[in-house]
Amino acid sequence: MIIQYLGHSAFYVEAGMMKAMIDPFLSETIQQPAYHINDLTHIFLTHGHGDHMGDAVTMAQASGATIIANHEICLFLKDQHVTCHAMHIGGRTTMDFGTVKMTPALHGSGIETETGVVYGGNPGGFVIEAGGKKLYHAGDTGLTMDMKLLEIESIDVALLPIGGNFTMDVADALRAVEFIRPALAIPMHYNTFPVIEADPMVFQRKNLASQTKILAIGEVFEF
Ligand code: NI
Ligand code: MN
Repeated sequence: MIIQYLGHSAFYVEAGMMKAMIDPFLSETIQQPAYHINDLTHIFLTHGHGDHMGDAVTMAQASGATIIANHEICLFLKDQHVTCHAMHIGGRTTMDFGTVKMTPALHGSGIETETGVVYGGNPGGFVIEAGGKKLYHAGDTGLTMDMKLLEIESIDVALLPIGGNFTMDVADALRAVEFIRPALAIPMHYNTFPVIEADPMVFQRKNLASQTKILAIGEVFEF
């Protein structure tokens, strides 16, 4: 599995035939994208907030990629000429590239529109299994005891928010790693805005429960 960090909580993920985006709110500082927008096959959305829906609709329209999101977000997207595969929390499904499970997140999911906030269902995260590897994207979430259940998934790489204010901070993300026990943890959702400033080096130094990889924006990582 190949991932490229696109800033904030956005990742490009490639495994076999799957060329996917997760929460594509893209940083404009990426010099060399590992992807071509028209080649995308899937777009995962953890919840309805603007910093996660990002450019998903434009990308899905350009590529024909299937958006994978909760039922309510798929309902919201039904008139926007995109294909949406609705899932919900706790559900796992088999796709052509492997399996996807939607996991709980402790957060909100309202969709901001010009005419107000639309109900976006419950927020979540994803466990994506492809090519014999497992990736967990936590979405936006506070620390929950439910994360302990992820230990049985044998996660290879866990993408965890550390920025605080809206999500776990460094201290809570460290507890999350102890619950999840991934082989490797990658911090995300920090330093995009002043209110989520955090030092990923502190997370790396204090994380004794797994390996840590800090990805620069645009950096590609294979596992
Ligand atoms: Ni959010
Ligand atoms: Mn967010």
